[in-house]
Amino acid sequence: PTLNRFAATLVEWQRHHGRHDLPWQTRDAYRVWLSEIMLQQTQVDTVIPYYGRFLARFPDLPSLAAAPVENVLTLWSGLGYYARARNLHKCAQAVMVRHGGVFPASPALLAELPGIGRSTAAAISAFAYGTRAAILDGNVKRVLARAFGIEGFPGNRKVEDAMWALADSLLPEHDVDIYTQAQMDLGATVCTRGRPACGRCPLADSCVALRDGRVAELPTPRPK
Ligand code: ADE
Repeated sequence: PTLNRFAATLVEWQRHHGRHDLPWQTRDAYRVWLSEIMLQQTQVDTVIPYYGRFLARFPDLPSLAAAPVENVLTLWSGLGYYARARNLHKCAQAVMVRHGGVFPASPALLAELPGIGRSTAAAISAFAYGTRAAILDGNVKRVLARAFGIEGFPGNRKVEDAMWALADSLLPEHDVDIYTQAQMDLGATVCTRGRPACGRCPLADSCVALRDGRVAELPTPRPK
């Protein structure tokens, strides 16, 4: 795709075909952060009931920061990857101490907090504050690899660096929150790992992998 049409195409697609009813579609940074941590290694459908129960028990950052970690782990049980829950609790305390209980808008500051990497920091700042920052999670790596025909395992440092540079260059001037959700939704519902639905993809006209019959080969798997 041409670099300048990519974001506009996704934003337009998101308005009509993206998900608009997810419980974390809010500007409340605490709720956005909680959802992004839960969604790091867990599917949307699994996260939804946990998310509701978690917020019923810990409706805001101070309540979470003040709780014993055991109570946090109990609410997390079943979601797996328990380091996430421990970091969540540590992060809540760090935001209280370092930032007076308010999540910073800066992706760089967010990324210094426990459990928040570069992509999660960008997602939180885009959704909660409208900050222009690029995400690059597994779904976005797949979309970029196919749309632009990028070769190489995306877990490889050089390939990943190149993808970050591309993701930065694709960021729209406006509607970064919608654009960010669009990439997540396209990766989850259309440009899926197995059986992608290229017939209803807004990028099909310009997708390098589709043009070259290489959708099934991209992104390049981990070398053996
Ligand atoms: N995966 C990670 N973040 C997400 C979000 N905000 N909505 C849907 N899926 C996601």
